Amino acid sequence: MIIAVDGPAASGKGTLGKRIAAHYGLNHLDTGLLYRAVARALLDEGKLLTDEDAAIAAARQLDFHTLDEARLRGAEAGEAASVISVYPGVREALLRGQREFAGQKPGAVLDGRDIGTVICPEADAKIFVTASPEERAKRRWLELQKSNPALAYESVLADIRKRDERDSGRVAAPLKMADDARLLDTTKLDIEAAFQTALGLIEAELAGKKEPK
Ligand code: DC
Repeated sequence: MIIAVDGPAASGKGTLGKRIAAHYGLNHLDTGLLYRAVARALLDEGKLLTDEDAAIAAARQLDFHTLDEARLRGAEAGEAASVISVYPGVREALLRGQREFAGQKPGAVLDGRDIGTVICPEADAKIFVTASPEERAKRRWLELQKSNPALAYESVLADIRKRDERDSGRVAAPLKMADDARLLDTTKLDIEAAFQTALGLIEAELAGKKEPK
């Protein structure tokens, strides 16, 4: 079974993806980490994010098994990932690995921006998780404030809007809800309610697929 969880930055799709995977006993891949790792490799080598060839080379060399999640979290890597993820060659280099991951037994939950549209268009269930930019900025701000109390909410909101624009506006595999995805708006839901709603949507989708045509 493959479940696709897509959505914009700070929508909660990562947390949901993890919980959905644990619930069904599936593998889980946060595909944002792949783009973050490519960006991090460039930054570590002192290369520019505009160096498309270097970004493609880093994507080709990426080992999905050695992603250092703690190092890849954070606003800098996220912003840089959004920049290098516009290059079609980078996306192409990461495509096969993601599909191979999805194909491994017993199945997987992948979360990202283009899972339901490009990586796993045949997924058994697709959820598109969203929330208003203001709510996503508030959640991210509360989280970042723990380590940076001076951080202004307005600057987090501006970053979220900029990232939405770049992720949705790019030509290659933009952030877009698949036609057959189910929408989950978490603006007014806490994580537990969002998780229960997601399970309901997935179960409805799976039940619909079992019905004789
Ligand atoms: O989900 P995230 O914030 O960790 O993702 C960081 C960036 O990586 C995001 O702004 C765009 C890019 N990304 C992508 O283009 N496609 C994906 N499937 C996942 C992430």
